[in-house]
Amino acid sequence: MNTTENYHVKDLSLVEQGKSNIQLAEERMGALIGIRDRFTLEKPFRDLRIGMALHVTKETAVLAQTLTAGGAEVAITSCNPLSTQDDVAAALAKEKVRVWAYKGETAIDYRTFIANVADTKPHIVIDDGCDLIDHLHTKRQELLVDVIGGCEETTTGVNRLRAMQGEGVLRIPVIAVNDNNTKHLLDNYYGTGQSTLDGILRATNILLAGKTVVVAGYGSCGKGVAMRADGMGAQVIVTEMDAFRALQATYDGYKILPMHEAASIGDVFITVTGNRHVVRLDHMRRMKNGVVLANSGHFDVEIDVEGLRREASQHYQVRPQLDAYVLDGRKIYLCGEGRLVNLAVAEGHPSEVMATSFCGQALAVEYLVKNRGKLVPGVHVLPKEIDDLIARLQLHAMGVTIDAPTSEQQKYKTEWREGT
Ligand code: ADE
Repeated sequence: MNTTENYHVKDLSLVEQGKSNIQLAEERMGALIGIRDRFTLEKPFRDLRIGMALHVTKETAVLAQTLTAGGAEVAITSCNPLSTQDDVAAALAKEKVRVWAYKGETAIDYRTFIANVADTKPHIVIDDGCDLIDHLHTKRQELLVDVIGGCEETTTGVNRLRAMQGEGVLRIPVIAVNDNNTKHLLDNYYGTGQSTLDGILRATNILLAGKTVVVAGYGSCGKGVAMRADGMGAQVIVTEMDAFRALQATYDGYKILPMHEAASIGDVFITVTGNRHVVRLDHMRRMKNGVVLANSGHFDVEIDVEGLRREASQHYQVRPQLDAYVLDGRKIYLCGEGRLVNLAVAEGHPSEVMATSFCGQALAVEYLVKNRGKLVPGVHVLPKEIDDLIARLQLHAMGVTIDAPTSEQQKYKTEWREGT
C-alpha cells in the first residue's frame, strides 16, 4: 500500500496505466468533457470542497477531473469494497484529488475511508448507495451545517434517502440523479444489462446460448440484463414481487416464476432487486449441480452468501472472483463474492453510458450551488430541461442530429381546441 495523509492506494507504480485508462474513458465521454470545458472557464465550484463516495473507476476519475476543473477540491473513496480500479486510484492520487481506495478493502478500511472523506468537511457530497450521507447524519452531524447538498447516484441510495426523509431525519437537500431519464433509463438499462453479463462471463467464461438465466427483479436493471441475456441466446425467466413489472416481463416475452420454482430450472441466477435474501438457502438446495450465482444489485445482501458459507460442506476459490461451494453434494459457483458483479469482476458500465450519468452528477452539483440556501432538506429531482440538455449533449457528442418541431407543430402540441 502507498499512504500519505492525502491518499491510501494500492500501488503508485500503476499511475501510467491509470492515466491511459482515464484517457480512454475521456475519449468516450464527450458530453461530460463539454461540461468540463465550460467549468474550466466559469469555475462554478471555486472555494468549494466536494466529497465523493463513488466506485473509483476510470469514468469516475473523469467526473472528479470535471469538478476540479470547475475549481473544487475533491476527495474520494469508493462505495463498495471490491469496485476500485487500483490503477485509476493511483493516477488520481498523483493529481490534485485526495483518494482513499483500493480493491479488496477490509470492512474497517471501508468505514475509515468514508470517515476520511467526511473529515475533509465537504460542502457537497456525491454518494452512490448513501453510505457517506448516512455517515454524516449518524456520526458527524456537526458537519451538516456547512453542507450545501448532496447527489445520489443509485436506486438503492435514493430508496434509503426517501426512507430518511420519511422519518424526518434527512437534514440536507439531495438530488436523486438516479431519477434522471438520462441516468436510470440508460445506465441501469444498457449499462447494467451489458456490464453484468460482462462480469459473469469474465468470472466463468460460460456459454450463455442455451442456458436458462433467471433474472430476479424487473426494474430498469433487470430489464437490461434480461434483454441482453435473451440476445445472447439464453432462455430468460424473470422473478418479481411487483405485479405491474411481472406483467411487463410477461408481455416482453419472458416466463415469470416464483424463485422457489425457478430455482430448480435455472443455470445462471442474477439478482437485481435492491432487496435482501432474494436467493436463499432453501432456493439453493433446489438448484442443479454447477449453477452460477451473481448479484448486480448495489449491496451484497441479495444472495444469502453467509448461509451458503455456513452450510456448504466445501468451499474453494476456483480463480479470482469465482468461488465454488458444495451444498448437499452439488456445486454452486458464486461470482465476485455476491458483490455487484459488474464492478467486482468487470470494469462497470462502459464509459459511453457513464457519460450521461455523470453529466447528471456534474450538473446536479452546479444546480445545488446555484440554488444554495433555496432548496429544503429532502430528495429533489433535477428540472426536466437539465435532463433534456444531457440527452442533447450526448447526441451532439455522438454526431447525431434530430428534428426540431416546426412552429406549427410547436403550436399543435400546446393546443387543446383542435381535435377530430
Ligand atoms: N457504476 C456502474 N458502472 C460504473 C462505472 N464504470 N463507474 C462508476 N460507477 C459505476
